[in-house]
Amino acid sequence: MLMRAEEMIHLKEKALQLLRGSLKEGFDSYYQRRYKYVCPDTRQYPWQWFWDSCFHAITLSHLDVELAKNELLNLVAAQEPDGFIGHVIYWRGAGRLRYWARLQSKLAWRPHRTALIQPPILAQAVEKVYQRSQDMPFLREMLPRLVLYYRWLAANRDPDGDGLIAIISNYESGLDNSPAYDEALGLRRAPPPRAWQLLLKARGLDISNLVRGRNYSLRRIFALDRFNVEDVAVNSVYAEGLHSLARLCAVVGREQEAQGFASRASRVEEAILGKCYDRETGAFYNLYRKKELQSKALTVISLFPIILPGLPREYADEVVSRHLQNPHEFWLPYPVPSVAKSEPSFEPEPRHFPRPLLWRGPTWMNTNWFLVRGLRRHGYTETADRIVQKSVELVLREGFREFYNPITGKGMGASGFAWSTLVVDMVE
Ligand code: GLC
Repeated sequence: MLMRAEEMIHLKEKALQLLRGSLKEGFDSYYQRRYKYVCPDTRQYPWQWFWDSCFHAITLSHLDVELAKNELLNLVAAQEPDGFIGHVIYWRGAGRLRYWARLQSKLAWRPHRTALIQPPILAQAVEKVYQRSQDMPFLREMLPRLVLYYRWLAANRDPDGDGLIAIISNYESGLDNSPAYDEALGLRRAPPPRAWQLLLKARGLDISNLVRGRNYSLRRIFALDRFNVEDVAVNSVYAEGLHSLARLCAVVGREQEAQGFASRASRVEEAILGKCYDRETGAFYNLYRKKELQSKALTVISLFPIILPGLPREYADEVVSRHLQNPHEFWLPYPVPSVAKSEPSFEPEPRHFPRPLLWRGPTWMNTNWFLVRGLRRHGYTETADRIVQKSVELVLREGFREFYNPITGKGMGASGFAWSTLVVDMVE
């Protein structure tokens, strides 16, 4: 029993209140449809974000399953005919876009979505909502979209054909300014946010470079080999998603496709184990450029393979006992920090508010959610329970904040941040 019954009721009520209070609705003339979705935060993040929506649907599957289905249906309504789904969908909002956000889209007077991806957790979200609702028509509606989306990823994001998908910008992992990308970006230490963008621009590594002249031609971007990262977290989520997709295909009797996705999932898992693991330090690291150099910053990304169902015991033990449970690295009073405390880049609280560099130390609820599931899957029950307990303590004390100081627990960033409601799924 991780929570008292009345605490649980209170937590669920608060979560539902926040999610319903973050709904955006209207009519979009480009997509020619009424839209309705939960935005990540009504003040800072008004649009529909890809992985945020998947998280919202996962929490909502416990609280309001119709709204959970709606969240995912609204997301796939913005899918391109070839399967691609942008990481931000600008429902009727593109007019107010900042210059920087504009660069994340293909050149257009009024972009409707970005040309970037986010971690492919759509299949896990659909599986969760299906499990909770047993709604076969919903599954039948979503499945062709899912198949198309995961096929798009394999066909367009794996230029070297090794099974791992590559990201073309640090924003695609969802862990925006994580020090895991410093090496690939040629940064020795993080400059202040404004200088960060200028520096990357000077090196031809920023988003504008991807747009300029190339307008997001993936073939040309990969040929340039500038920011080309095979990310451990993105690929762990991808492999887990392919397993979910395989199971969903099997539910509707599409056995051959199920087998195909299951074997693709295993291939991705093998590639993560074979290429991203470093025996000496007992952790996983991102690969960058065609040469597949390992960037050695120890961040929460290094722990992500714990979610892989096929992770062998000896790897899991290294990740958990050598790193996650290490009080000098990740086992801080409010785990799990986004960067190990032992890293020179570790900052428990970002400087430079109101536009901080994100993911350089604080604890976030979505990464805790992933790790807890992985830990349970591999039998590390006590460690998982401890993270859940601390996560619940944080949201009850500080509210659903964007991120938290892993040492003091202080809540920071956006103050009604919708995916922090994932604690509801963690305690269920
Ligand atoms: C921040 C996060 C990203 C998230 C977005 C919207 O940019 O780093 O992961 O999707 O906010 O919440």
